[in-house]
Amino acid sequence: MSIPLHLLILLAVASLAAAEIRISEIRSDDRPIIPFDEFGFTHRGQLELNITKLSLSGPTSDLSALSKLGFFLCTRDAWIHVLQQIEDGEINCVLGSDAVQKVYTFDRLPSLTTSELNFLYAESDADQYTLVFANCLPQLKVSMNVRSAMYNLEDGKANRRDYLSAGKTVLPRVYFLLSIIYFVLGAVWISFLYKKRSTVFGIHFFMLAVVLLKALNLLCEAEDKSYIKRTGSAHGWDVVFYIFSFLKGITLFTLIVLIGTGWSFLKPYLQDKEKKVLMIVIPLQVVANIAQVVIDETGPFAQDWVTWKQVFLLVDVVCCCAVLFPIVWSIKNLREAAKTDGKAAVNLMKLTLFRQYYIVVICYIYFTRVVVYALETITSYKYLWTSVVAGELATLAFYVFTGYKFKPEAHNPYFVIDDEEEEAAAEQLKLEDEFEL
Ligand SMILES: *[C@@H]1O[C@H](CO)[C@@H](O)[C@H](O)[C@H]1NC(C)=O
Repeated sequence: MSIPLHLLILLAVASLAAAEIRISEIRSDDRPIIPFDEFGFTHRGQLELNITKLSLSGPTSDLSALSKLGFFLCTRDAWIHVLQQIEDGEINCVLGSDAVQKVYTFDRLPSLTTSELNFLYAESDADQYTLVFANCLPQLKVSMNVRSAMYNLEDGKANRRDYLSAGKTVLPRVYFLLSIIYFVLGAVWISFLYKKRSTVFGIHFFMLAVVLLKALNLLCEAEDKSYIKRTGSAHGWDVVFYIFSFLKGITLFTLIVLIGTGWSFLKPYLQDKEKKVLMIVIPLQVVANIAQVVIDETGPFAQDWVTWKQVFLLVDVVCCCAVLFPIVWSIKNLREAAKTDGKAAVNLMKLTLFRQYYIVVICYIYFTRVVVYALETITSYKYLWTSVVAGELATLAFYVFTGYKFKPEAHNPYFVIDDEEEEAAAEQLKLEDEFEL
């Protein structure tokens, strides 16, 4: 792959800072540039590299030539500068640039037959770096197993290691706090259902399940991230986390569809076309979740990473569009009903509710997909957690809105409407019809 293409990939994964200890196998590779991982260092950052099964095949006669082979750390700005230097012909090897921080060049190997090496590199310039391997000898093929660990040393506490990137180190606490908020919401919801038990529908229990799954999912994410923070590996928590993510994703989309159709509080059944939407959305959510697991586990520089990312985005967009249809159908049905059944005020209320819901779902989707992504791209690596918080707050607002608007009502407000209101509503519906609103 050419160097500019690699640059594009580096920029495309702007937000991604995988933090785990990573083990990569390189086999007879002659790529000029092999990116490994990205990490945000504080002023007490360290990089630990352990290389085993190292072998070089090709015309290597002496060690000094191997100065064109090695690992370096590079910030994004520096990378652009290096590309410029190569283009201008100032340098012919990335390792010749003074903009990159050479971590280890292979002319420092004890001998040509060395097969194992360990070293530690301290980084005191706080910034976001990518660890890259460069091979400027075109005919040389490299094989090696690389274990790379990047971490920051915590201030004070006996040099404890923090394997989370600088902008993500507060995430375990953020997730934990959010999960408490959702558990509280769940408790409030249960007490509500109990108080209004005469008007509770099936959908209200489903909403409870969705909130509890979200709380459990956040709790697992907090535990998963704090385990990674301490040890650099994901242990077994990631499996539990993926299971809850999966259930949460499916139930949330199902809930949006069910509420959109008015199931259980407007009508006790689903129409065929509404069932079809569910039959599209649920399998697509399964695919989206599988893609998400692969994306998380492989890291941005793995071979099929970009493909999986595209699969995920595509499936997600399709799901988001599909959930809007039932709401649109409900709005249409309510307008039809308003003309025929003579209960204009009741229908106008429901209509307003569904229109609000439609707009809120669109805002929620737009915010969590587009705005959060934009935030991630523009915020400095030190504040990456802010985009996570923004996305989670939008989600929280969406849950609260849905719960508030579709909560069980003790007395049905639709039946206590006087003639005046009824007339006004009928008038408004007529007006809307004229203007095709
Ligand atoms: C990796 O290298 C570091 C630095 O030399 C060393 O302290 C550590 O023990 C090595 N780890 C493994 C698993 O070999």
